[in-house]
Amino acid sequence: MELSEVFAHSQYLRFKQKSVSVEGWFSDMSAALFDAFMSFQKARGTGGDFLEIGIAYGKAALMLAAHGAPGDVVRLVDCSEAQVTGTTALVQGTTQSRVEGIFGFSEALPHDLFPSRATRFMHIDGDHGRWALHNDLDIAHRTLGADGMVALDDFLAPQFIGVTIGAIEWMTRNPEAFEMVLVGFNKAYLVRPRVAMDYYVFIRDMLPGFFRSLDLHDFTFSRTDVARACGTFGLTARQFDLDILTRERAMGLPEVLVEGKIVI
Ligand SMILES: C[S@@+](CC[C@H](N)C(=O)[O-])C[C@H]1O[C@@H](n2cnc3c(N)ncnc32)[C@H](O)[C@@H]1O
Repeated sequence: MELSEVFAHSQYLRFKQKSVSVEGWFSDMSAALFDAFMSFQKARGTGGDFLEIGIAYGKAALMLAAHGAPGDVVRLVDCSEAQVTGTTALVQGTTQSRVEGIFGFSEALPHDLFPSRATRFMHIDGDHGRWALHNDLDIAHRTLGADGMVALDDFLAPQFIGVTIGAIEWMTRNPEAFEMVLVGFNKAYLVRPRVAMDYYVFIRDMLPGFFRSLDLHDFTFSRTDVARACGTFGLTARQFDLDILTRERAMGLPEVLVEGKIVI
């Protein structure tokens, strides 16, 4: 697959126009990452619906909806009735997909509201607490399709430590459900282990070019552990003027094995 085949599906500029006056907690880098992963999915033929838990004014929901095609469903969950009503109407006006507002606390909703294995992109951005996280990952495990992706807001954020603890606990209890392929700019990105390698290759070989095509340059991907121990990419602001930072470069060592170093 060529970068041009992926970039052809980008909705970033359209999203920027539609969301310019919408308040929210969704950074340009997160928008670019969502856009890149959903464009990659489209290019590889991944189908399915979209789901967000915690929609507020609809900033991130507008990006999900921008990738929706006729026949897809964008499900928007929030515990604020006013936000469900207002945001659902706003987002529906921007997409050919059907937008379904679901009012309630996500931990109180019956899980069969969410069709089994039918979602291609899900954003968890609701309660931000440890036990609610367990519930929201249960929903993700039920509804995510084989090639889908879950974005988890505030992973590693000091303000919401329960998110990080809850996610690691859940993943330890359910080791075959998801693999974390990327952490950066305030979110973690999870996929089914069977497709994790495809996403890793996309991140390594195409995401830097995708960002540059969007005129975003302030980034470095890190892969600082042995891939079999922890293949997850980190993503930060620019470091060492490198697109991909290895452990050796991060520690100021040459890119060769140092004598006496035991690699485990
Ligand atoms: C940080 S905001 C979401 C930001 C939004 N995704 C964006 O792109 O700007 C969190 C939202 O989650 C909602 N919320 C909080 N706890 C929730 C819960 N347990 N279930 C569903 N929604 C919840 C809040 O009402 C609020 O609208």
